Amino acid sequence: MGIVIDPAIVPKKKLYTGEEIPCVGMGTFGSDRFTPDQVSNAVAGAIRAGYRMFDCAACYGNEDQIGEVFQAAFKEGVVERKDLFIMTKVWNDMHRRVEEACRKSIADLQCDYVDLYFIHWPFPNYHAPGCDVDSRNPDSKPFSVDEFMDTYRQCEALVEKGLIRYIGISNMTIPKLEACLPLMKIKPVACESEFHVCFQQQELFDYLVAHDIQPVGFMPLGSPQRPERDMMPEDVADLQTPIMKEIAAAHNCHPALIALKWAQQRGQIPIPFSVHEMEYTSNLKAMTEDPLTAEELEKIKTLECGNRLVKGQVFLWPGANDWHDLWDEDGVIVK
Ligand SMILES: NC(=O)c1ccc[n+]([C@@H]2O[C@H](COP(=O)([O-])OP(=O)(O)OC[C@H]3O[C@@H](n4cnc5c(N)ncnc54)[C@H](OP(=O)(O)O)[C@@H]3O)[C@@H](O)[C@H]2O)c1
Repeated sequence: MGIVIDPAIVPKKKLYTGEEIPCVGMGTFGSDRFTPDQVSNAVAGAIRAGYRMFDCAACYGNEDQIGEVFQAAFKEGVVERKDLFIMTKVWNDMHRRVEEACRKSIADLQCDYVDLYFIHWPFPNYHAPGCDVDSRNPDSKPFSVDEFMDTYRQCEALVEKGLIRYIGISNMTIPKLEACLPLMKIKPVACESEFHVCFQQQELFDYLVAHDIQPVGFMPLGSPQRPERDMMPEDVADLQTPIMKEIAAAHNCHPALIALKWAQQRGQIPIPFSVHEMEYTSNLKAMTEDPLTAEELEKIKTLECGNRLVKGQVFLWPGANDWHDLWDEDGVIVK
């Protein structure tokens, strides 16, 4: 057993409800490279290293293995259920059956209730896990406020039933939020989006903060090992940029830790993934020591270059132009 970080010294973020949650969580998407058992073993190690927040999803195909690990940690008295902040997500093919999806995640994760339940994508457009970027589902549709709100209402009902504590949204845009936020009875506490040093989404970030919605940043390290299908020739490797290497050298650490310190100091909750004990432990420890200077934060600001890695091509509907249509880049919902 390596280093253990006391969860009490991990900084916290305050939700609009007043509840404080850890400033970092662990991702659990194995990127097609790691088996469910490898990912769940990492979750077991991470709990013992001091992680208290986990970002799961039904479509990652490993919730039952992670559930075994949670249950073992409870039985062994390593943590109690209330000490963990468990996040998971409803997948696109279950938007009309959210309660069923949520009950399945709760059963698989063996966690009694979910702390934060995200709508993974704002479209009901299904694609098979691991499919090629060029594959399209002819049933795919553009975003619809009515359909999305129907899914959201089902999440609101889950809060009332005590199955979930909070609702989250993911992969949203400002125009979609503008259309939907006024219709929500229970405000989302968080929005999970792609945020990393070469894709800072400052406008979306500011919008979320202004609306008291906590930004959660996926692919905080620029997902250097993402699946082949998500790699495009124009993508930039965040951690290999000279600025990140230079700041890492000054702090005598890997650029990954600089990316996480930036995320925390800017205010989003990063959810880095790793199955390697040394990496996931140092990712957590980085939150507790040696912050970046104001000057370093300014330098990192200049790395922004629109480096969106999850473009979402597979969710495109017949008649859509290309992946840019998913992100409402002109400030209106693309239909
Ligand atoms: N809501 C959504 O739509 C959505 C989309 C994508 C991801 N996510 C969530 O976000 C999480 C994180 O995204 P991600 O896993 O794609 O990417 P990531 O966290 O940016 O990158 C993960 C990779 O970085 C490397 N790494 C981790 N810690 C390191 C360290 N200390 N030093 C050096 N390298 C390190 C590891 O590579 P090696 O294995 O080679 O060491 C690991 O595979 C996912 O697991 C998932 O939970 C959500």
